[in-house]
Order: sequence, then structure tokens, then C-alpha cells
Amino acid sequence: MTISGVMRTGEVCIRVMDLDAAREHYGERVGLIETLRDEDGTTYYKAWDEHDLYSLVIRPADHPGIEHVAFKAVDDATLTEVAAKLDALGFPTTELPAETMPRSGRRFRFTLATGHEAHLYAEKEQCGNGMPLRNPGTIPPPGTVRGMRVVRLDHCLLGGGDIDGNIPVFKDAFGWSLSEKLIDHETEMTLAMFWTGSNTPHDIAFVRQPDDNRFHHASFLLESVNDVYHAADLMGYYDIPVDVGPTRHGITRGATIYFFDPSGNRNEVFTDGYLHYPDTPTLVWDTSKLGQATFSQDNTPRQSFLEVLT
Ligand SMILES: [Fe+2]
Repeated sequence: MTISGVMRTGEVCIRVMDLDAAREHYGERVGLIETLRDEDGTTYYKAWDEHDLYSLVIRPADHPGIEHVAFKAVDDATLTEVAAKLDALGFPTTELPAETMPRSGRRFRFTLATGHEAHLYAEKEQCGNGMPLRNPGTIPPPGTVRGMRVVRLDHCLLGGGDIDGNIPVFKDAFGWSLSEKLIDHETEMTLAMFWTGSNTPHDIAFVRQPDDNRFHHASFLLESVNDVYHAADLMGYYDIPVDVGPTRHGITRGATIYFFDPSGNRNEVFTDGYLHYPDTPTLVWDTSKLGQATFSQDNTPRQSFLEVLT
């Protein structure tokens, strides 16, 4: 699709149990830039090449998981239009005033069929990427790119029961495309769906799980496969628990590592993948090739990857 309506997954808010450890993880090790901090400890981060003031929010809590995911519309008129479509499609929205999230405009809150709290917004203060808008050059000031050299928030993967129930949200209200899906090779039941509103292979994905409102991972874009290897070296250096990788997915063709934050929330660093266009057909994987669909270098599915969610 043309990137004109709902542009991307612009914000994910996750719960962390040990705030100091989480700040060290996301700020110093992953290398995100802290931009705001609330009195309750809630901390806001951006990756270096994002212009918006924050894309990752960590909130102190007594259990891990996702608090909300937020999608950014291109302008306020689109926000109104898409919220009306959600209402008409049976996803009632509640309007939240500006500053519900700091330095961000009014939002519409709704609940996905998988039980996740979702927001739709159009405005957030922009602080730039450290490079001038006129004659920007090619790199930000030395020292800006740190840790795992994350470029931007890429996507997240959420778990819940009725993943088909989210089709009206992403297809009909957002106008996004289903880039890929994973089905059971015997029953043809859809087990995972990958949605894109842009040129990337996915902006959000859902995996069928017995329980609703589960969080599988938030994924951060890196510039190159070389940076994936560099991130792996940092994980070794800091003794960060690694789930899988470095390897490559069959689905999306992305190079990847899965690892955990100190609260047990899964993170991913990701790069590559193909360019998606509106006329790109939906790719279907079935579970007879589950190993290749998930990890295409050794074609071996991982139990922890399939079963551990927060
Ligand atoms: Fe991912």
C-alpha cells in the first residue's frame, strides 16, 4: 500500500519489574536514547534514526508483558476516519485527550480481538535524529549510535486466541496487507499472521496462543547483518540471555537474534527481509516446514520460541 493512512507501529509500552536493570538493558546495552522520564519511573526511549520523541516506553510493574501497542496515522483527519471505521467494524474506540501519553496528541484506544490494548494517534513531538534537516550529512554526531546500533522500532509479535478476529482492524480499517501467514498443514488453521502497512515484511504479527493479551517480542531494526553479529557479541559480553540466534527467518527472510530483557520480555534485533508492495501476494507457510519458516539456517523450530511469552 501507499504509506498514507496508518503508517506504522509507532510505539510499544512494556512492563518491567526491575527498573534500574531495565534502564541499563534498553539504554546502555541495546543503546536506545532516553528522552523522557515520569515521576513513577516510566521511561521513554527512541532509536537514533527515529524523529519522534519516543517509540519504546517501559513502565514499572510487578509482572512483565505488554501494556499497549500504538499505531501512528499520517494526520489528524486520517485518525478520525480510521477511528470511525474501527467503531463501525465492532471495535469501539475511546478518545483519550492529548497528553495522555506525554508530548503526544489525542488518541483513540481500542481492544484487539486478541485482547491487547491498542492506540491510534497522529501527533507526537519530533526531536529529530541528531542530523540537520538541511545538508544533513550521512551520519549523526559521533556517540549518537551506541550499544546494539538500533536504527528504529521495527515491529512486535503478540499472542492471543482469536488472531483471525484482528483481520477487520488491519485489513479493513487500516488498509494493511497480510504479507505472510503460517497454517497448520493438516487442519489449515491459521497459526500466525504477519501484517504490513509499509514496504517492510511486517509491522505487526500475531501468533495463536491459548491465552489472550500475550507479548512475544518487540523488534528493533539494525542496519546490516554485520550489526546483527555485533549485537550478538555484545550479548555475549554482557551475558544477556539469548533465546535464538544469530540466524535467519524463513518468514520475512530477516536476519535475527532473540534475547530477553531482565524482566523476561523477549526482544529481537532484525535486519534484511524483502520489500513488500500492495501487489505482493501473501506468502503461506505450513507446519510441515515449521523449522524452515522459523529458523531457516538449521531448519529447526525452538520450543522456547514457540512457548515462552510474557
Ligand atoms: Fe520479529
